[in-house]
Amino acid sequence: MLRPILRYGADALQITARPVDDFGTDLQTLIDDMIETMYAAPGVGLAAPQVGVALRVFVADPSSGRSASDLVVLVNPEIVEQEGAQREEEGCLSLPGFTARIARPAQVVLTGVDREGTPVHLEGEGLQARVFQHELDHLDGSLFVDRLQGIRRDVIVRRVRKLQRAGKW
Ligand code: NI
Repeated sequence: MLRPILRYGADALQITARPVDDFGTDLQTLIDDMIETMYAAPGVGLAAPQVGVALRVFVADPSSGRSASDLVVLVNPEIVEQEGAQREEEGCLSLPGFTARIARPAQVVLTGVDREGTPVHLEGEGLQARVFQHELDHLDGSLFVDRLQGIRRDVIVRRVRKLQRAGKW
């Protein structure tokens, strides 16, 4: 089932999500819905807070569905290693119409568990590393715009407020 994606400004996007400890039906339904919602958007990643659920879960597929093996479902993720640097254009399903160049490490190693609770160890570089870090930010209540400073941040925030006032957000 598709779930509505919350937009920048929603309270649920600004809180720290809690770890998953129940791998039952509700979690399985949530994950299936998140995968469907991500592909329908379409997007390369989606975190549970974006659909209003304060749990540490994200789904990601940097191939946008072109390669089924690229789909990642990660529960209770943590970055255990990071290296290098990249600065690329980034967007977010919760900030439709906006992008910005964001500096992030080029390679990351993540640990967490899969949807059944089995420990996993993931390595990502380039776009995949960026998606992983972007989704992890969502679990800590942060969007890419929060990584910007000064005028680069203000421009986006002002435009969003204008859209909100016009009832178009
Ligand atoms: Ni996002």
